[in-house]
Amino acid sequence: MRKKILITGGAGFIGSHVVRLFVNKYPDYDIVNLDALTYAGNLENLSDIDRKPNYSFVKIDITNEAAINELFKNTIFDGVIHLAAESHVDRSIKDPLAFIRTNIIGTVNLLNAARSQWEGNYTGKRFYHISTDEVYGSLGKEGMFVETTPYDPRSPYSASKASSDHLVRAYYHTYGLPVVISNCSNNYGANQFPEKLIPLAINNIKHRKPIPIYGKGENIRDWLWVNDHARAIDVIYHQAAVGETYNIGGINEWTNIDLIRTLCEIMDRKLGRSAGESAQLITFVADRAGHDLRYAIDSSKLQRDLGWQPSLQFSEGLEKTVDWYLEDEQWLAHVTSGDYQKYYEKQYENV
Ligand code: NAD
Ligand code: TYD
Repeated sequence: MRKKILITGGAGFIGSHVVRLFVNKYPDYDIVNLDALTYAGNLENLSDIDRKPNYSFVKIDITNEAAINELFKNTIFDGVIHLAAESHVDRSIKDPLAFIRTNIIGTVNLLNAARSQWEGNYTGKRFYHISTDEVYGSLGKEGMFVETTPYDPRSPYSASKASSDHLVRAYYHTYGLPVVISNCSNNYGANQFPEKLIPLAINNIKHRKPIPIYGKGENIRDWLWVNDHARAIDVIYHQAAVGETYNIGGINEWTNIDLIRTLCEIMDRKLGRSAGESAQLITFVADRAGHDLRYAIDSSKLQRDLGWQPSLQFSEGLEKTVDWYLEDEQWLAHVTSGDYQKYYEKQYENV
C-alpha cells in the first residue's frame, strides 16, 4: 500500500533535507511538500528531486485555515511531518506576531485538519511536530536539556515553539491524536538561509565583509549536521511510540567565537588566503536582546531507544558545509540577490 505523507516547510533548510531523504528512500511513499515560500522557502533546494513521480508541491500558507481544510478534504494523508515555521530568533524580536501566526495558529490549523480527517480511525496515522531545544530556555555552565526539563522559553521564537509543542501534546491527551515531538539543537549544513550564524559568516568571509559577533561571542550552542537531523526524523517518524518526545543533538558544544575562528581557518585554507586573514573580519557588535547563554542537549534517549547516532564529527561537517557553499556559488548568489524567489514562477509556469 502506498503511503501519503505531508511534509510542511519542505522548501526551507531542514525541510528540504527531510523531503529529499523521504523521496529517495521511500519510492512507495507519495511525499507532498507544503510550503508558503516565505523569504526562507526556496524550491531550488529541491531541484534535484522535484521531477520524481513520488514528489509534489503545494503552495499554501498554514495560517490560511480554509486552504488547509480544503487540502485535507481532497487528500487523505497517512502522516504529517510538520516543519513549517518562522525560525529566526532575531526576526522574532522585531516582529513577534508573525511567529504567533505561523508557529501557533498555523500548527493548530494543521492539528485540527488532521484530527477531523483521522477522527474515528487513528490506526497507522501520525502527526510529527518538529521543534527546538530553545523551548527549554538557557543553561548555565553545567547540565544538559533532557526530555523532562521544564519549558522556559525566553525569546518570542522559542515561546511560540513552546506554545505549539504544548498544543500538540494537548491534542494527544484531549483527542488521542497520534503525535510525536522532537526537539533538536542548532543545525548546520547546505541550504541554510544566510541570516543564521554559519552561512552568514561563510558568505561574509567570502566577500571580505565584517563577521558580526553578538556580545563577547561567549554564548554556547550545540551543533548538529542537518543530514543527521533528517536521519533522526526518519527514525523517529517510523519507530517512536505515539505520545513520545525525543531530544536530538550533536554532543558538540562551541562558543560562537571559537566556532567562527575555526571557520575562518577553514576558509583561509580553502580560499588560498594567508593564515589569520579572515579572522580579521571578526567584529563584535551589540548583543542580542535576551540572548540565551548556553544550549546543550542530551540525546541519549534517542540513541538508546532507537539506535540513532550523529554520523559526522563537527570538523568534517564544517569542511563539507564550507565546500558546499563555495562550490554552489549560484545558490548563495540567488539567495542574497532574491533571485531564488523567481524559481517558483519559472519552474511551475504551466502548473
Ligand atoms: P527555515 O526558516 O529554513 O524554513 C522554514 C520553511 O517554512 C520555509 O520554507 C518557509 O517558506 C516555510 N514557512 C514559513 N511560514 C510558513 C507558513 N505560514 N506556511 C507555510 N510554510 C511556511 O527553517 P528551518 O531552519 O529549516 O527549521 C525548520 C523547522 O525546524 C522549524 O520548525 C524550526 O523551529 C525547527 N528547528 C530548526 C532548527 C535550526 O537549527 N534551524 C533547530 C531545531 C528545530
Ligand atoms: P543563530 O544562527 O541565529 O541561531 P539561534 O539563535 O537559534 O541559536 O545564532 C547562533 C548563535 O550565534 C547565537 O548565539 C547568536 C549568534 N549570532 C551572532 O553572534 N552573530 C550573528 O550575526 C548571528 C546571526 C548569530
